[in-house]
Amino acid sequence: MRTAVLGTGIMGAGMARSLAREGHDVAVWNRTATKAEALAADLADQPGGVRAAASVAEAVEGAEVVVTMLYDADSVLEVADELVGALDPGAVWLQATTVGPDGARRIGERSDRLVDAPVLGTRKPAEDGALVVLASGPSALVDAAGPALDAMGSRVVDAGPDVGQASALKLACNSWVALLTAGTAQALGLARALGVDPGLFLDAIGGGAVDTPYAHLKGAAMLGGDDVDGPVSFALDGVRKDLGLMVEAAGGAGFPDELLRAVRGAFDRASEAGHGAADMAAVRTAFEA
Ligand SMILES: NC(=O)c1ccc[n+]([C@@H]2O[C@H](COP(=O)([O-])OP(=O)(O)OC[C@H]3O[C@@H](n4cnc5c(N)ncnc54)[C@H](OP(=O)(O)O)[C@@H]3O)[C@@H](O)[C@H]2O)c1
Repeated sequence: MRTAVLGTGIMGAGMARSLAREGHDVAVWNRTATKAEALAADLADQPGGVRAAASVAEAVEGAEVVVTMLYDADSVLEVADELVGALDPGAVWLQATTVGPDGARRIGERSDRLVDAPVLGTRKPAEDGALVVLASGPSALVDAAGPALDAMGSRVVDAGPDVGQASALKLACNSWVALLTAGTAQALGLARALGVDPGLFLDAIGGGAVDTPYAHLKGAAMLGGDDVDGPVSFALDGVRKDLGLMVEAAGGAGFPDELLRAVRGAFDRASEAGHGAADMAAVRTAFEA
């Protein structure tokens, strides 16, 4: 397919890579143009053609599927007019940025060709084409984008017919991810504070009903110190952005938000300590004296 990826940050770059590997033609655009240019050069040997576009309109023109993978709803709305103005009448806009249900509906007002399509998975699943895509909107549009979705994801979860439903499910999923990450940091920190080897926590849960591979992945980074200066899969400040969306959405639904606020407080403390650009595992620093 002819595709366009707007936003070549961690996730957008990985998704463009997966599209190109599967033979799709990809036009990439990024606010900081040098990043898109470097990505296009890096992907020159992939089966699909990859080119850096100088503008949103240049990337979108002629594309059958357009993916937005920016930062938040405002950053998507900033490019929306130019995107919609260049969008082919038969094209599909896969809006993958995490924007929350209200944000998705605001963006959805700009085009009836939009699928609300946030993703689960981080840097490596994006690069490997192994994301889980949560999709809501007209099923004909989801079907039309099928080959691109297959390239970027391992499966698509049908979250319903309305724009906003997939973004609501994404917040529920990210509440789990944020809680697991902060919970792993808390357990390691509590063990240390109580005078036992924190690594024993991971040994103790290993293989049991409360074990999860994620605790070992993030726990190893926390124990090794890679959390603050190692590779970034999802920046800590991005998690704070998402927790803000969760608190706002919970408030709107009359849902109790005290646990969300407590988790957000831990991420806030780590950010205030200077770790906002580090991987989310750096929430560990909120649990140390
Ligand atoms: N990383 C993950 O594990 C993960 C997983 C699932 C979903 N997400 C979500 O996916 C989205 C992207 O995450 P990421 O980790 O790839 O973030 P990232 O590496 O920080 O990339 C953010 C992208 O958004 C662009 N951007 C930011 N503000 C913009 C604006 N005002 N106008 C135009 N472009 C703007 C950035 O452009 P510049 O390069 O010019 O700054 C960059 O291309 C976020 O909504 C995040 O919550 C992330």
